[in-house]
Amino acid sequence: MNMERRMPARLRGSAQLRDMVRENRIDMSDIICPVFFVEGKGIKEEIPSLRGQYHYSVDAFLKDLPELKSKGIRALLLFGVPKEKDAQADCAKDAGGVVQSALRALKEADGGMLLLTDVCLCQYKSDGHCCFFHGDGHIDREKTLKVLVEAALSHAQAGADILAPSDMMDGRVGAIREALDEGGYSHVPIMAYSAKYASSFYGPFRDAAHSAPGFGDRKAYQMDPANKREALVELLLDVEEGADFLMVKPAMPYLDIIQDARQNTRLPVAAYQVSGEYALLRNGFEQGILEEKGLFESLLCIKRSGADLIITYFAKDVQEWIGRYQ
Ligand code: PBG
Ligand code: ZN
Repeated sequence: MNMERRMPARLRGSAQLRDMVRENRIDMSDIICPVFFVEGKGIKEEIPSLRGQYHYSVDAFLKDLPELKSKGIRALLLFGVPKEKDAQADCAKDAGGVVQSALRALKEADGGMLLLTDVCLCQYKSDGHCCFFHGDGHIDREKTLKVLVEAALSHAQAGADILAPSDMMDGRVGAIREALDEGGYSHVPIMAYSAKYASSFYGPFRDAAHSAPGFGDRKAYQMDPANKREALVELLLDVEEGADFLMVKPAMPYLDIIQDARQNTRLPVAAYQVSGEYALLRNGFEQGILEEKGLFESLLCIKRSGADLIITYFAKDVQEWIGRYQ
């Protein structure tokens, strides 16, 4: 064929044409909004490292819930930030713990939101690590799995719709699945943080959740940012162990991993646009380096790379952006 006759820009000539050939769209049903819960009453405090995000007590959050719904948000990812941590991370599995109480109150107040919970120990454990260690410094996997399973069950009992383990311990998805099935919660899905990297992009979150490790780092359990094939090992293991959703985290610096997950598995893939990504983009916008459309573009790129779902701190803005830019 005469090459001049293949003119791709022919399909870009009008807004209607561009609409017609658009390959990817963001829909509010793709979006999951993280929320940080603290103990107490009447608390809504902006998190300094994550402007636009708040530490909420449950009662204060319930007041803002109608607004979130009006902004099209249909799914929340709950994080608990307890006042006191302890060496055994007991408060991670306490039926009256901060996440468990939030779940109960939200279930009572509102049937409409899907409630996901982050299952990990780092926000609850004195040393800020996601696991227990043996005396020689190696991970005590058995003990860690036991406590994670107890925490997961306590979330299911309190009404969580989806459990999202973020600890990266080997075998945790299988262990949680088994305990849920045995405990009468075979209907509760697991969204596995499957390919979670030991990334520098979590900094603002660790301030928000008071979960920075007290010593060392998370390299002994989270993935090396240099590795790609290993992500597929992790993803496929979680499929085998019974995960219902897979997650890649962070998102924009790891689009190749999201694409890999989409192409090599059949489960829904979620991507977590993490705190560092949000803070950078938001600061860029506020300083006039990036126009607002660029923030929406960040979500579209994540979608285009293959993510079905996006967890993002921009959740409250997405509906408006869809109206303006899509
Ligand atoms: C807890 C957890 C972390 C994030 C989600 N769950 C922090 C970490 O692993 O250090 C990061 C989220 C973000 O940066 O927005 N394990
Ligand atoms: Zn953790």
